[in-house]
Amino acid sequence: MSVAKLVTSNFRNINNGSISFHPECNFIIGENGSGKSSLLEALFFVGHGKSFRTNKIDNLVVHDQENFVLSIKDIENCLFGISKDFSSNQTIVKINGERSTRLSELAKNIAIQVITPESFRLFFGGPKERRRFVDLGLFHVEHRFSKSWSEFNRVLKQRNACLKNHADDKTLNYWTEIFCQHSDIVSEYRKKYFDLFSLELVQWTKVLLPEIYSQIKVQYLRGWRQESNLSDVIKTNIDRERVLGYTISGTHKFDIRFVLNRRPIESQLSRGQQKLFLIALTFAQAKLIEKVKRLKPILLIDDVGAELDFNSRTKLQKSIEMLNCQVIITAIDEVAVQPLVPSNNEYKMFHVKHGVISVMKEKVG
Ligand SMILES: Nc1ncnc2c1ncn2[C@@H]1O[C@H](COP(=O)(O)OP(=O)(O)OP(=O)(O)O)[C@@H](O)[C@H]1O
Ligand SMILES: [Mg+2]
Repeated sequence: MSVAKLVTSNFRNINNGSISFHPECNFIIGENGSGKSSLLEALFFVGHGKSFRTNKIDNLVVHDQENFVLSIKDIENCLFGISKDFSSNQTIVKINGERSTRLSELAKNIAIQVITPESFRLFFGGPKERRRFVDLGLFHVEHRFSKSWSEFNRVLKQRNACLKNHADDKTLNYWTEIFCQHSDIVSEYRKKYFDLFSLELVQWTKVLLPEIYSQIKVQYLRGWRQESNLSDVIKTNIDRERVLGYTISGTHKFDIRFVLNRRPIESQLSRGQQKLFLIALTFAQAKLIEKVKRLKPILLIDDVGAELDFNSRTKLQKSIEMLNCQVIITAIDEVAVQPLVPSNNEYKMFHVKHGVISVMKEKVG
């Protein structure tokens, strides 16, 4: 999909009102503290029901207000809305006027991904972000994944409760057996997705990191020793698990690893290269979602000038054209986005100042 219009009310410092986007390429220019990231955050929030900057949702509402409302109209006139009221603690999701209780209904229809200057620190900082990244793609690409993943988590909880409460062997064995079955199912989905993803990734690293792409190796670590049955691994670890009170191996511990010259990629790449690599990962995922689900993702790139030189931004422009999805890119000045202007010269450029968004340029052909 492409966002045609965003309407915001009481969200961060963004002036209440509506913004009409270009279906493909949008640039948001503004000084520090003007509201660029807040605008991307508003778009992201409609797709995910959460922010990419904070877990504290009350940070998002204008300081003295009790509720915020966001809505998106896409180019096919579908409407997606979300509102949060802090006095009643109520979240309302609406799709084409119909009320829904589930945030996942929004996520099913909208695939929004974001790249920020902090993304790669988070991504390379620990497995949590990498797991979130893979599962976002899986959520869109394998429709059975969500159900299997929530069933797995239910079983994991039961098994952890058994370990914590020193359940007898019979009860624990019962849950261990079910746990292993569910872990295998989820892990199989992840492995299949990862194989598709690894193939797709090459197309993007080739453009964004042409000097090293052929040496980058990607690995899927499923969450327990390779070439071993999970039940055997659990048997070996059971005494430790009983002491710790939780399950230490299983698909909840999966990770993905990127290797260059037999070393972790983050230790080998410069900051700019790390950012390009993360862009390659994000674009690969976006393309896969489009190919499999026929849902065109929306890409948000915050502060594009950070870490990327002219040459890198030119490579980025090439990959944005290859991706052929709606992109919304922020920068502190116009110079930073010059190399990103599409070759057909069709785009829209906005200026933000104190949360007020105005159209600077609108080029259609
Ligand atoms: N809940 C809120 N209500 C009102 N204003 C807020 C709220 N949260 C943050 N702000 C303000 O919104 C402004 C815009 O912040 P934002 O992070 O969007 O700026 P930015 O344009 O991305 O800046 P930078 O270039 O430094 O990243 C800041 O001045 C911030 O203090
Ligand atoms: Mg910002």
